[in-house]
Amino acid sequence: MTATITSIAHYLPPDVYDNSYFESYLDTSNEWILERTGIHQRRFAKSGATSDLIVPAAEQCIAKRGISKDEIDCIIVATVTPDHFFPSTAAVVQNKLGLKNAWGFDLSAACSGFVFALTTAAGLVESGVCRNVLLCGADKMSSIVNFQDRNQAILFGDGAGVCLIEKSNDSSMGMLDHILRLDGSGGQFLHMVAGGSFKPASAETVANGEHYIYQDGKNVFKYAVVGMAEVTVEIMKRNNMKSEDVNWLVPHQANHRIITATAERMGISREQVMINIDKYGNTTAATIPICLSEWLEKGLLKKGHNVILASFGAGFTWGAVYLKWNMND
Ligand code: UT7
Repeated sequence: MTATITSIAHYLPPDVYDNSYFESYLDTSNEWILERTGIHQRRFAKSGATSDLIVPAAEQCIAKRGISKDEIDCIIVATVTPDHFFPSTAAVVQNKLGLKNAWGFDLSAACSGFVFALTTAAGLVESGVCRNVLLCGADKMSSIVNFQDRNQAILFGDGAGVCLIEKSNDSSMGMLDHILRLDGSGGQFLHMVAGGSFKPASAETVANGEHYIYQDGKNVFKYAVVGMAEVTVEIMKRNNMKSEDVNWLVPHQANHRIITATAERMGISREQVMINIDKYGNTTAATIPICLSEWLEKGLLKKGHNVILASFGAGFTWGAVYLKWNMND
């Protein structure tokens, strides 16, 4: 028995910020941002929390599936920008949506959050612990970005992707394989210094900007290129897939150059890769479900397609999932 995605939707806040927004107050340029990252614009939520990004996507996802909210028995929220340390964002979402029969939890795996949570949700469904898992990948990155730092301000965006995970009646469809990795020695290159139990928030930590993202971009870039290639090539090999068998690579959208390098190592062409980093930047746990949802809406993602999801992020966390896509819009 396999688990499968039975519905998917996404939400992006309406306010669009072009690269010119940063040109107006930072020492940067549209040319630099486009050339080094592939990002043209991103969305920032002017108010609200991560749960407010999730709720409209979740409402749409559940409505598309046509099931009652009472049938959802678990909520997983993959995020690094929870509404609060506690209670979990899953609890906030449960209450806002009125999912009265659901338990749930948050999962922290940064940019690999969706891939880790998808594997977790599939395990819960395959083992019979849950029937319907509402899986949310969402981040309000604008709440932790240092907008005065040109090295990070231009990279991120806000957004949410939500899907339902249920049992597949056909075991050749749905979630067919996964490779997940965690290497904590990479934490030094991408983290938030303060605000946790290691260094609780204080006037001093705020004055030092330690409540923002810290990223050594060059090092993360290096590891991301190697890590994404390692897991994607491995998952192709052990599923006897050649490059022409891959309908879609759905990479985490952190940098256009990392995406291109991964596709090259897999031997696949640009036409086989979902890329929307130009429009939304890096929305962390939301990048992959937003891609899937958009490509499904556009009619480009079809039942029976071989889909490889790939991610790399803070931790370091990285991984690949092989899906045989199992739904039409
Ligand atoms: O999603 C989580 C995982 N994260 C990632 O995968 C991100 C991985 N890293 C990256 O995508 C890239 O390293 C960045 C986009 C963050 C940076 O690109 P880079 O090509 O690695 O640039 P760099 O950090 O080596 O900086 C090159 C130069 C520096 O100037 P100097 O020291 O050579 O004078 C930077 O200060 O570019 C400068 N720079 C900028 N210039 C204009 C950095 N940011 C900017 C900017 N505008 N926004």
